[in-house]
Amino acid sequence: MHKFENSWLLSREKIDSISRNKKAIKKINEYTSISKNLNVIDLGCGTGSNFRYLNPKIVKKQSWKMVDISHQSLSYLKKNIKHSQKIQNITYKKIDIIKQIEKINFKNFDIVTGSALLDIMPKEWFMNFFNINKSTEIIYFTINYDGNFKFYPKHKDDDKIVSLFNQDQMSDKGIGKKAVGPKCTQIIDKLFQKTHNTFIFKSNWIIEKNQIMQRMFIGFCEEIISKNKRNYEEWLNFRKENIKSNKSILKLQNKDFLALKL
Ligand SMILES: C[S@@+](CC[C@H](N)C(=O)[O-])C[C@H]1O[C@@H](n2cnc3c(N)ncnc32)[C@H](O)[C@@H]1O
Repeated sequence: MHKFENSWLLSREKIDSISRNKKAIKKINEYTSISKNLNVIDLGCGTGSNFRYLNPKIVKKQSWKMVDISHQSLSYLKKNIKHSQKIQNITYKKIDIIKQIEKINFKNFDIVTGSALLDIMPKEWFMNFFNINKSTEIIYFTINYDGNFKFYPKHKDDDKIVSLFNQDQMSDKGIGKKAVGPKCTQIIDKLFQKTHNTFIFKSNWIIEKNQIMQRMFIGFCEEIISKNKRNYEEWLNFRKENIKSNKSILKLQNKDFLALKL
């Protein structure tokens, strides 16, 4: 199972949607209260989770540009898109935002957004992105994994699994370069503090009843364990048993990042 398969993106949508921090939306609406209609670009839009969350919550009328490297996700999105009457126009573009970021004219956008994206970007991407977005009014990256997750009930090997998982988060996620992983929010915040008012909000997952999501997450851990040739059979069985008997809770920490032009 690959992380960016449409099935995974659609499964996590509900939990992402309830986890995103409402304070960021309030600030976006306050900041844009006197501006014209908004042009929004969604980087790494996937199957459209961020769009579906954000478009009804933004008070102003909007036009959106949806960008992703995956043809499969963009075509799912095009076929299934539904939106509020506030949406005036939607365009779709297959772009590699690492190799072809210069193809995007960020001056055309009032809001540059992305969800569950920053941690998979390589370090050098952040400086490039900052340099071409110094004048962008609103930068909003949501659901940035911050390096911490906990399962309950606890197990003696939990910390070892978290560190193996985080190590994997900093490996090449199929883009030819190492990803920054859990430090992504700190990295972007440090850059945009120079030109914007920046905010970091919690957007933690708390997954109690959802067995499917927990099983999928354990599936990722299992892949990482096997890729690293480790043996955590007992931990895996313990986790699977607890999920099966509805005793398992997963708490995973994310951050939402918002920058408003000074
Ligand atoms: C974890 S998914 C998040 C998708 C969506 N934003 C969401 O919240 O469900 C990361 C997305 O980034 C896209 N992506 C990864 N590398 C990319 C690149 N270099 N250029 C454009 N999109 C990329 C993937 O195809 C995937 O759709």
